[in-house]
Amino acid sequence: MTEAGVAPENLEATEAWNGPLFDVWQGFQAVVVSNARAHGDAALEDHRPEPGDRVLDIGCGLGDSTVQLAELVGREGHAHGVDVAERMIAGAREEAARASVPNVSFEVADVQIAQFADTYDYAFARFGTMFFANPVAALRNVRAALRPGGRLNIVVWRRKLDNEWLHRAETIVAQFLERPEEYEEPTCGPGPFSMANADTVTDILKHAGFERLELKRQDLVIKVGDDLEHAVDLVMSIGPAGEVLRLWGDRAAEIRPEVRAALLEGMADMVRDDAVYAGSSTWSVRALAPG
Ligand SMILES: C[S@@+](CC[C@H](N)C(=O)[O-])C[C@H]1O[C@@H](n2cnc3c(N)ncnc32)[C@H](O)[C@@H]1O
Repeated sequence: MTEAGVAPENLEATEAWNGPLFDVWQGFQAVVVSNARAHGDAALEDHRPEPGDRVLDIGCGLGDSTVQLAELVGREGHAHGVDVAERMIAGAREEAARASVPNVSFEVADVQIAQFADTYDYAFARFGTMFFANPVAALRNVRAALRPGGRLNIVVWRRKLDNEWLHRAETIVAQFLERPEEYEEPTCGPGPFSMANADTVTDILKHAGFERLELKRQDLVIKVGDDLEHAVDLVMSIGPAGEVLRLWGDRAAEIRPEVRAALLEGMADMVRDDAVYAGSSTWSVRALAPG
């Protein structure tokens, strides 16, 4: 995608999602996508698109949710996945072709400034709305792409304290390293917890022009690794702890074994017989475009 297709303030997050974060997302796909799926399924359970609906999947990543939405709306409906990272969309297209899903399409675009060719009945996002530099502009753009009365359902992380695998890892890493003041690596913008606060996400959606807001809290135990080493690899790569380590890069090489040892000890109580599990918590935020 040309840089003209991305808002200047989203260029850095785009570089991150198309580069190091794509590698992490793909490398840990089995665990991160199945956890995302669990929260997405909970959000869709009692607020799903209707058969025949045209659906927009915001920040669709590798596109399994777009395929799921396409199946929910059936052959008369359609699901369109949008993501700013070319590599995510390339992966999503491959997966949908492999699964031979006919009523699905994908587009590389920055949702904040995209000009959608279609009008949608329903917009969904599974952890795809927290990285916009200007979330009000982005969600206003989504609202404009919905027909009057169109429905929105976005899944976002709730507060860190209720997502202990990420929060505990962040706390442990902070004993060794603070976020560096200078770094060359791109960051992912406001970050995964930018819509965690109920008042903040409500205000963003109201300012974006949505009505009839409802927040449903979803608490789920999720698998965060096949074993303790795997879970520690994950938190050292993703989320707030992963980001601090990534920003330090090679400058933290010497201290990494110590950090790793502390994480192995600090997360040991999350190990169960077959794998590593932790509590997690999201909002499914529902709203309507004015009718
Ligand atoms: C945490 S991932 C979630 C991916 C997917 N929804 C899932 O649940 O597996 C966040 C996604 O949002 C995308 N994203 C970030 N900023 C975006 C923007 N401005 N426009 C469109 N997509 C964006 C990223 O490229 C990334 O694929």
